[in-house]
Amino acid sequence: MIFYKTRAEIELLRLSNELVSKTHAALAPYLQPGVKTIELDRIAEQFIRDHGGVPGFLQYNGYPNSLCISVNHHVVHGIPGDYELKEGDLVSIDCGVLMNDYYGDSAYTYGIGSIDPKHQKLMDVTKESLYLGIEQAVVGNRIGDISHAIQTHAESNGFSVVRELIGHGVGKDLHEKPEVPNYGKRGRGPKILEGLVIAIEPMINLGKRDIVQYNDGWTIGTRDKLPSAHYEHTIAIVDGKPQILSRFDIIEEVLNQL
Ligand code: MF3
Ligand code: CO
Repeated sequence: MIFYKTRAEIELLRLSNELVSKTHAALAPYLQPGVKTIELDRIAEQFIRDHGGVPGFLQYNGYPNSLCISVNHHVVHGIPGDYELKEGDLVSIDCGVLMNDYYGDSAYTYGIGSIDPKHQKLMDVTKESLYLGIEQAVVGNRIGDISHAIQTHAESNGFSVVRELIGHGVGKDLHEKPEVPNYGKRGRGPKILEGLVIAIEPMINLGKRDIVQYNDGWTIGTRDKLPSAHYEHTIAIVDGKPQILSRFDIIEEVLNQL
C-alpha cells in the first residue's frame, strides 16, 4: 500500500533530505585523488550524527556502512573500503539519513579531476533523465510516465537502463511502495496523487544494461565492465506538482568553487 504524506510529514522529509544533501556538499571537497572511500564514509557518518540524524543505510538489511560508493563499472551499493580514488574516476555516492522518523535518500555521481568526454556525457544524460522523469511527476500522470521519460532520454543517447534496481516510495521506511522503474510505458502503473513521496534514481550504463552482483553480497557492477552513472532525488507531490526535497544546488555550489 502507498502511504501518502501530509504537508507536515513532507516538511520532515524535506529536513531529512536536506541533511542528505548537506552531507554530499560536505564530502565534495574531499573527492580528490588518493582519498580512500572508507574515509568518505567516516566523514559522512560524523556529519550526519553532528546534525541530529542517523545514517539511513547503516545496518539497513545488514548493510555495513553509511554511504554506498560505487566507482566506474560499479553501479550501486558499493561498500566503502581501502580503494583510493584516482583521476578520471566516476564516483556514485548514495547517502541516506533517518531523522524525526523520516528518511532522506539522494545520490550524485562525481567526476574526479578531468573526465573522459564519453563518461562526462554519460553523467550529463543520466542527470538530465532524472529531471525529465521528475517533470512527469504531476497529478494526472502515472508512474510509467516518469519511467518512460527516463528510458527514452537514456536510450536515445545510446546508453542503457539498469532494470533490476529501481526507485521507490520514501517515508518512515527507506523503501516504500510504489516501485519506480527507470524503464516503462506511458500511462502505465500507479496514478500520481497529492502527497506521494518517491525517490527517482536512474542507473544508466555506457554499454549494455546487464549487471552482476559481487561476492560481498552488495556491490552491483556492469557485466561488460563499462562505467555506469546514478543520480537520485527524493520528491514530493504538492499542489499537483513535483517538489524536489533533496538538493543538488548546494552540492554544485561547492563543486563549482573547488
Ligand atoms: N539508496 C539506496 C536506494 O536508493 C539504498 C541503499 S540500501 C543499503 O535504494 F542497504 F545499501 F543501504
Ligand atoms: Co533510493
